Amino acid sequence: MAENATLTTDQKAYLLGLATAAAQHSYSPYSKFRVGAALLLETGETISGCNVENCSYRLTSCAEQAAIARAVSELGPAVRLRAVAVANLNGAASMPCGACRQTLAEFGGDDTLVLYPGESGPEETTLGELLPHAFRAEFIR
Ligand code: THU
Repeated sequence: MAENATLTTDQKAYLLGLATAAAQHSYSPYSKFRVGAALLLETGETISGCNVENCSYRLTSCAEQAAIARAVSELGPAVRLRAVAVANLNGAASMPCGACRQTLAEFGGDDTLVLYPGESGPEETTLGELLPHAFRAEFIR
């Protein structure tokens, strides 16, 4: 398990609280899986999002993707991730899906902290551990 000494226990709890609060807004009538994500940006700003499902199932937006879209929309294209917290209201252990890992990698680095719901409470890892050898923008320059 990765350690990231740059976030205090209080900061982690705060970010998880934001993610849990965002999950209250989840639009998930199909899966009933209510997810929230909260981003801590390099600037210290925080922003959150929830999953938004669609009856054409594949159009569903995950909470992490919603949070990223909101961050860029509200703060501009230079947002950089220091940490991400994910929570759900279903009491389920769950990790960011593959698409979300790639979405987060666009704005974060290998050392971006990721907090997620484990079997017995929040656990932490890094983006680099979740998505090793990510496809990155420099490949297409
Ligand atoms: N979901 C997320 O919001 N984030 C993830 O990383 C995994 C899945 C959502 C998508 C869908 O609305 C529901 O959880 C069930 O897959």
